[in-house]
Amino acid sequence: MSTPSQITCVEDFRRLAERRVPRMFYDYADSGSWTEGTYRSNESDFHKLKFRQRVAVDIEKRTYRSSMIGIDVAMPVAIAPTGLTGMQHADGEILGARAAEKFGIPFTLSTMSICSIEDVAAHTHKPFWFQLYVMRDRDFIERLIDRAKAANCSALVLTLDLQVLGQRHKDIKNGLSTPPRPTLANLVNLVTKPRWCMSMLGTKRRTFGNIVGHAKGVGDLSSLSSWTAEQFDPALSWKDIEWIKKRWGGKLILKGIMDAEDARLAVESGADALIVSNHGGRQLDGAPSSISALPNIAHAVGKEIEVWMDGGIRSGQDVLKAIALGAKGTMIGRPFLYSLGAMGEAGVSRCLQVIANELDITMGFCGHTDIHNIDRSILLNGDIFD
Ligand code: FNR
Repeated sequence: MSTPSQITCVEDFRRLAERRVPRMFYDYADSGSWTEGTYRSNESDFHKLKFRQRVAVDIEKRTYRSSMIGIDVAMPVAIAPTGLTGMQHADGEILGARAAEKFGIPFTLSTMSICSIEDVAAHTHKPFWFQLYVMRDRDFIERLIDRAKAANCSALVLTLDLQVLGQRHKDIKNGLSTPPRPTLANLVNLVTKPRWCMSMLGTKRRTFGNIVGHAKGVGDLSSLSSWTAEQFDPALSWKDIEWIKKRWGGKLILKGIMDAEDARLAVESGADALIVSNHGGRQLDGAPSSISALPNIAHAVGKEIEVWMDGGIRSGQDVLKAIALGAKGTMIGRPFLYSLGAMGEAGVSRCLQVIANELDITMGFCGHTDIHNIDRSILLNGDIFD
């Protein structure tokens, strides 16, 4: 299986990435916190929802074009922010942004990206989104916001669920740090991934380009780990969100909302959208799956703010289920990372095609021709998470 057209589903990309990306970075993507219970349920809860198949309905002309915060999108899916993306594939953030813009969906660049905001802006044509973590160093945050504005980013995705860090056992065991621990296993692993090594050799870009050389006390990689560990701000409050909103002045999306009371506060903050997200099961293990948390939040605030979700989406069928349960948009994290690690930009493009095709065909099976008409009625048991 070596050409993009031979790939037929996200699982194909996952398997290929597992073979091609060094274990340390593959595991970084394919893991959740502690028991990984929430990580697994993000995916498995989608399988509990069953479609209502309809027949003999004219479904010849179908469209899944939509909009997210007023931006026209080829399908209601955006690429989620993911840290260290440039370690799955050299220049990963640039390649991901390019694939997304060609397909016509938004790309979100993480604060913890390898390529910087300026790198991505210099290699793309359309505005992308920037994801912000709130750090204790507020001067640094101000400069990051200003850099995102200068790069013409069209939305700020403010992640709220990382005041403390979830622990992933695999990262510790693999020696994932900056720079990585040079264990024998890691060195052997590198040598056995020639494709990855070749792609990395071609890159000259700085690593952690949003931070190194920009944050006080982080002149090089060796000081990054301790800086990062100390900087995520446990004292983050809604007052800070108000301040960030004012400083940014553009579209604001709040990420990491899992509770209807927090969703209400998100509405009151004046944000443009909120994302029902448990950080892909990487933060609070034991939290519900995102898809099971979605209906309650959509019911509570869906008429006042755009409600999106991410976590566990592995197909266009999952996208459709999220829309049916009240999401106006969705985000994908690991499907993007697997396809990038497996095949670079061509992989991401193919992954988006696969998801769009599954979305289109499933909508047809359910007797619908327009994604705007999708609601709970396409599901036989749409109330199981109420
Ligand atoms: C993430 N996620 C994340 N979120 C964020 O706001 N900033 C970040 O830097 C990261 N980093 C990150 C790294 C990796 C390897 C993963 C897998 C995830 C969370 C991400 O944006 C999204 O919420 C989840 O990935 C969605 O779940 P799925 O699609 O991966 O199941």
